[in-house]
Amino acid sequence: MDVISVIRTKRDRGRLSDEQIDWVIDAYTRGAVADEQMSALAMAILLNGMDRAEIARWTAAMINSGERMDFSSLPRPTSDKHSTGGVGDKITLPLAPLVAACGAAVPQLSGRGLGHTGGTLDKLESIPGWRASLSNAEMLDVLRGTGAVICAAGDGLAPADKKLYALRDVTGTVEAIPLIASSIMSKKIAEGTGSLVLDVKVGTGAFMKTLEDARELASTMVGLGTDHGVRTVALLTDMSTPLGLTAGNALEVRESVEVLAGGGPADVVELTLALAREMLDAAGLHDADPAKALADGSAMDVWRRMITAQGGDPDAALPVAREQHVVNASTSGVLEILDAYAVGIAAWRLGAGRARKEDVVQLGAGVELHAKPGDSVVAGQPLMTLHTDTPEKFAYALEALHGGILVGPPGASFEPKPIVLDRIS
Ligand code: URA
Repeated sequence: MDVISVIRTKRDRGRLSDEQIDWVIDAYTRGAVADEQMSALAMAILLNGMDRAEIARWTAAMINSGERMDFSSLPRPTSDKHSTGGVGDKITLPLAPLVAACGAAVPQLSGRGLGHTGGTLDKLESIPGWRASLSNAEMLDVLRGTGAVICAAGDGLAPADKKLYALRDVTGTVEAIPLIASSIMSKKIAEGTGSLVLDVKVGTGAFMKTLEDARELASTMVGLGTDHGVRTVALLTDMSTPLGLTAGNALEVRESVEVLAGGGPADVVELTLALAREMLDAAGLHDADPAKALADGSAMDVWRRMITAQGGDPDAALPVAREQHVVNASTSGVLEILDAYAVGIAAWRLGAGRARKEDVVQLGAGVELHAKPGDSVVAGQPLMTLHTDTPEKFAYALEALHGGILVGPPGASFEPKPIVLDRIS
């Protein structure tokens, strides 16, 4: 087998054979296929696609590149959630303890933010003392003791994806449905969860900009999960405007704690409950009542135990950025557009995200919204507050917001978008 013939097959719109796929994933993981060769193949896949059988084999080869975890010794059914990434998407934080409070075990392997979308681990690291890296034994201990764990995937899990994802990120090959589906599902299947709920984001702030592409990604992932014996359901959810009122690490932790305390923005609560119901259903816990677990404080109890078990202090003050800048409405009327991508880029430029993997994020940086689409605003009213430790970034962040905010005439009719747009099982 040689890599050039594998690249040529896909370049010329052919099908990769099972042998070609197994070989190229294994050889790339071992370092026998170079990054430039794999990036040529990734670009050929992005341009020419893969059929379902190729995607299934590619996913299986990535799973087989590393270890598989096993939670079968736990007394509870396992259920996990994965979001394809968005702006202000802090849902994992209230969701994992909530589902655990309702009787499931939630092994939530999460990632860091890159580009305009935030990462769950960066958010949680704003809690003093909290540790993202756990050994497999520690992970199992936290899961057994509290019902939920949120931590980084170990190096042994789907190492082919770790290498390939980093390469795709710098070669313009992230947005390929076969590569996204196999990347996400190889990690989730290797992780060993019994059931999985996918939150496939649609809109300007998501990888998938149209419902049609999101449906294709969702049904590809649901098919892969089901074929590997994981009960998998996908919700397609709106990402045309940020979720909730915050985008940025510590800001989002604060909002998540508000949700766990029974408050928080309506859209965050609605999506948290919708995903919780799906996760509990997929885990066979049909009688569980997540709304009650939010209201009676039992989800908050699990959150506090989970954070403490990972070295964090749930009562510690969260980091606050040194400087603030308020953006006011320039006219009176109805806020029609508050674009998720624009807000995500602004938060990133303020220091909430990183441009390169090794960059350090500012924990207090980000954007705090004071109005959401559909709200009436008056000229001069604060629309959002920008937070950063590096005030020289304000101008750069404001530039990102140009064209991302639209105030329509007073009294203009506004059709709110539902959060959950579709369900695929
Ligand atoms: N998240 C992943 O884990 N992989 C992708 O390819 C895209 C989003």
